[in-house]
Amino acid sequence: MLSENQIRVMFDQQTIENRIREIGEEISRDYEGEELVLVCVLKGGVMFMTQLSKSISIPMKMDFIMLSSYGNQLTSTGKVKILQDISENLSGKHALIVEDIVDTGRTLNFLKAHLLEKGAESVEVCAMLDKPSRRVMPVELRYRGFEIEDEFVLGYGLDYAQWYRNLPYIAYVRQEEES
Ligand code: IMP
Repeated sequence: MLSENQIRVMFDQQTIENRIREIGEEISRDYEGEELVLVCVLKGGVMFMTQLSKSISIPMKMDFIMLSSYGNQLTSTGKVKILQDISENLSGKHALIVEDIVDTGRTLNFLKAHLLEKGAESVEVCAMLDKPSRRVMPVELRYRGFEIEDEFVLGYGLDYAQWYRNLPYIAYVRQEEES
């Protein structure tokens, strides 16, 4: 766990939710008349998905996928594994991946290919946060909440060792405590 003064607000709840509303309205316009399935990447995408879905005014389905996290070790091989797959049949449907943050891009490259293999008509990405400076593999983001610097962030679904997902704002971790 972190001490309170190591946690600094980056985006408050109002700012996040205003942006999410704009994205939801854009998605509603773009997918009008299409069969849309939001695919939430567990666990980090849950709060974003929940809020986003409330601003989508067209009929849609929700599904969930859990992938292995490798990202905590810098020495990782970068391999992504499926821990829990979606249950929806994607054939003829448009999948929109809802992800908390794009870092190296490995997760999304893997997931896009996986959903296309499952027969999705199209696969696009909606990410709450984007850290482009960390990219190892290119990823095209159709929707993006905010671009951020290379900082470790938590809250609004994002965790620090599984803690802090419930914070209603996005915070960054200060490296050193104030004296
Ligand atoms: P990628 O495959 O490297 O793009 O990793 C994306 C995943 O890494 C996200 O879904 C998060 O679970 C995790 N991640 C990357 N950066 C952060 C961060 O700053 N805070 C919390 N989780 C992060």
